[in-house]
Amino acid sequence: MKKLNPQKIKKDFPIFDGQPELVYLDSASSSQTPQVVLDAMNEYYTGYRANIHRALYDASQRATNAYEEARKDIARFIGADEKEIIFTSGATASSNMLASMLKQYLPLKAGDEIVTTVMEHHSNLLPLRKLAKEKKLVIKHIAITDDFELDMKQAEKYITTKTKIVSVSLASNVLGTVNDIKRLGALAHKRGAVMIADGTEAVGHIPVDVRALDCDFLFFSAHKMCGPTGIGILYGKKELLEKIEPSVVGGGIVTKVTKTEIIYKPAPERFESGTPNIAGAIGLGSAIRYLESIGMKAIHAHTSKLTALAQKKLNALPGIAVLSGKRAGGNSGIVSFVIDGMHPHDISHILAEENVAVRAGHHCAMLLGEALGYPATTRASFYLYNSEKDIAALITAIKKAQKIFTKNF
Ligand SMILES: Cc1ncc(COP(=O)(O)O)c(C=O)c1O
Repeated sequence: MKKLNPQKIKKDFPIFDGQPELVYLDSASSSQTPQVVLDAMNEYYTGYRANIHRALYDASQRATNAYEEARKDIARFIGADEKEIIFTSGATASSNMLASMLKQYLPLKAGDEIVTTVMEHHSNLLPLRKLAKEKKLVIKHIAITDDFELDMKQAEKYITTKTKIVSVSLASNVLGTVNDIKRLGALAHKRGAVMIADGTEAVGHIPVDVRALDCDFLFFSAHKMCGPTGIGILYGKKELLEKIEPSVVGGGIVTKVTKTEIIYKPAPERFESGTPNIAGAIGLGSAIRYLESIGMKAIHAHTSKLTALAQKKLNALPGIAVLSGKRAGGNSGIVSFVIDGMHPHDISHILAEENVAVRAGHHCAMLLGEALGYPATTRASFYLYNSEKDIAALITAIKKAQKIFTKNF
């Protein structure tokens, strides 16, 4: 495995040219974009901009080819078939779309159960809640252990013949913990339930193979993995997608419409009505080729090393609680923390003055805040362009914040 050189990688990202002092530790919120991705999108807009799947002239054919090539890139990247890749506007759109589709597809009755966890992002949790309310389903939330891992014993108890859907993040957006989707999927399938993985903090950060995970659905956003905003993916197993009807309907998804009949195209076209984010798809394809050129194993090894180092350095500070998955290789690159007597927003404000960009708040995971006993935390997240120097800057800035607070309060 090639070792990655973050200083060299930084040169691929124009933001660091303009702001060499920036210590960007917020890739879990949105990553930075390499020049190759900007170039790929710009080339579409300036060289062959046209709608796809519609016309026979050169620009439209080029656009269609580039869009479909991007679908192949994504399929290869997660070990799927290209027919299993649906373009959406992002993880949140994918998750909502999926919940609506499952509402129609699954034979759900009052009292049936959904199993999820306390560490879910609201984008996974709330569509499940809406579905549960509409169909009078019961939701069970798997708890976390003191090591910030899922309580798998509880998972085994919770997943029963009443369970129709199990939906769990592949990696937590607050703890970084990488969850055992394969095991949860096996439990779900044994009981006849579908397994959904929220891959938003995992794809592009750790190697992901949907066949190895054996999940039925997986969704994620491009903007957290070097791609543009406004584009995401819903992966679904071919045999399921062929049986499911689209929840969003419109142009481009039918082979026939009469006054009494609609015949949908096969998957994935039937799920992509309307003009999609063509430049976004092309940008995501380019981001994937960029990540592949560096290597996902090398990226994960690099962020794992940084995560472990950050956990160690933070733990050495006084009055701090570090909330982050500790298992070797089991963290997607995220370290959250709280410091005695300081609100996370104050910490992030002082850090921002030192050019250290982190995120503070509930991170759209309020059930987790409740479970941890900390409604708000400060979160540092690491990616391929971060280095040990960034961790040193983080620690220096936190020490400064602690000094300001002990002096003034
Ligand atoms: C685990 C997880 N799921 C879903 C989402 C929603 O992603 P988006 O805002 O791109 O739709 C996020 C974003 O922070 C996330 O971290």
